Amino acid sequence: MLADNTLTSRSQRTESFNAASTEAVAVYTPSKSGRRILYLVSISIAVCALLVWSSALLLNVYPLSSIRSAKDRKMVTSAANAAPGSLQWYPPGRWLVVVMGQLRGGGLVYRSFSHHILDALRADLALLGPPDDSADTLLLQQRAKYKWIHPDPENGDWGPVLTRLANGSDAWKRLCKVTHKETNNSIVIDFLGSAGAPAGSLCWAAGSGIIHYINKRLIQLELEKIHVEKTYDWIVVTRSDYLYLCPIPRLNLNKATIYAPQGEEYGGICDRFAIFSAEIALTVLNVTNHLLSNMDFWIKTWELSIYSDYINPERMLYMYYKTLSPSIQMDKYLHPGFTVRRPDKDPTKYREGEDSKQFSPYGIRVKYSGEYEHAMESCEPWKRFQFNNKDYNKETGLFQVLL
Ligand SMILES: *[C@@H]1O[C@H](CO)[C@@H](O)[C@H](O)[C@H]1NC(C)=O
Ligand SMILES: *[C@@H]1O[C@H](CO)[C@@H](O)[C@H](O)[C@H]1NC(C)=O
Ligand SMILES: *[C@@H]1O[C@H](CO)[C@@H](O)[C@H](O)[C@H]1NC(C)=O
Repeated sequence: MLADNTLTSRSQRTESFNAASTEAVAVYTPSKSGRRILYLVSISIAVCALLVWSSALLLNVYPLSSIRSAKDRKMVTSAANAAPGSLQWYPPGRWLVVVMGQLRGGGLVYRSFSHHILDALRADLALLGPPDDSADTLLLQQRAKYKWIHPDPENGDWGPVLTRLANGSDAWKRLCKVTHKETNNSIVIDFLGSAGAPAGSLCWAAGSGIIHYINKRLIQLELEKIHVEKTYDWIVVTRSDYLYLCPIPRLNLNKATIYAPQGEEYGGICDRFAIFSAEIALTVLNVTNHLLSNMDFWIKTWELSIYSDYINPERMLYMYYKTLSPSIQMDKYLHPGFTVRRPDKDPTKYREGEDSKQFSPYGIRVKYSGEYEHAMESCEPWKRFQFNNKDYNKETGLFQVLL
C-alpha cells in the first residue's frame, strides 16, 4: 500500500510538472519556419564549437583537467604553435649533452635518451667515463662527438684521482675528519665515499658520490679545452641510466640559472642531471676544484652548517651553488626521465630497483618510484599531444618505436 501511494504521488507530481512545462513551452513555441531556422542555427553553432575545440586540442592550447598549476598552464599556452619536443619548443641555440660515468641501463634507455633528448635538442653528445666497447652502448658511442676516456681505478679507490686533481697534494684527507661545532658530532663526509677504500679506512662511506665530483672536475677541464662559451649555448650534464618518457619540458631558460630535477634531493639538490648555459658552465662545474682549493672555508662551513650528521653529495652541491648566489640561481623542474637498473648487469651501491609489470618485460627495474611518478607528470602535456599516436603505449608511457 505504502509503495503504491508513493508511486501514485510521484506520477502525479510528474504529471503536474509536465503540464506546467508544456504550458510554458506553448507560450514561447515559435512558428514552424521559425523552428527550422532555430534548428539550423543551433546545429551550426554546435559544429563551430566542435571545430574550435578539436583544433584547440590539436594545438594543445586547451587546458584539460590534468593541468594543475599556473606554471603548467603557462607552459602549455606558450607551446601554442610548437609540438612539445619540436625544434621551436626550446630556445634557439647549440646544445651539448655530457653523459658522465659508466654507461648503464641498456638499449631501451639509450634509445629513449637519443630520441627524446639528443634528437629533440639537436644536441652534440659527449661521453666522459671509462672505455666501453660493449655492443649495447654502440648507439651512444657512434653518436658521440667527444669521447673523454678516463678509466676507473682498478681497486675502487678514488683517493689517488682526487690527489691528482689537487695537483699532487693529498691534503684533502683533512676533509674527512670534521666535528660539528654545536652538537660535537663527527660529521660523515659522505660525498667523499670511495675515496680511500678499503671499507672502514679514511674517508670511507657507503656511497660513491666522489665519482660524480671527480667527473664534474674532469668535465670542467674538457669544456675549458673546447672553449665551451664560444662553441655552445646550453649544456646538459647527466648520468646514463635515465629512461625517458618524453623530451624535457619547455623551461623559459635563463642564462644565470641552474636547472635540476625536483626530487631525489636528500636535503640538498639533485646531482644526477642539470641544465645550464655555457656562459656559467665552468663555474657550475667548479665545485670540486673550489673544495680542493678552499678547504678551510669548507671545513668551517660544515662545522657550522645545519647538517650536523652528514654531508651527502646533494647537500654539498646545494651548499656550493649557494656560494654562487645571487649571480647564479637554482631552479627545479619535473624531469621526464627516471633511473632504471638491469638487475643482471648494472652495479649499484644503494638501490636494487623494483620489478614492475610495465618494465620487467624489458629487463629493467625502476630504481626510485618517485622519479617515475614525476616523469609521468612531466610528460602530461606531451601525452595529450600523442593522444592519437598509435605508436604510443598509454600504460608505460613508452613509444613502440623505441622497443
Ligand atoms: C691545480 O692547478 C690548476 C692549473 O694551474 C689550477 O687551475 C687549479 O686551481 C689547481 N687546483 C688546486 C686544487 O690546487
Ligand atoms: C661540545 O664540546 C664542548 C667542549 O668539549 C663542550 O663545552 C660542549 O658542552 C659540548 N656540546 C655538546 C652539545 O655536547
Ligand atoms: C674555481 O674555483 C677556484 C678556486 O676557488 C677559483 O680560483 C676559480 O676562479 C674558479 N673558477 C670558476 C670558473 O669559477
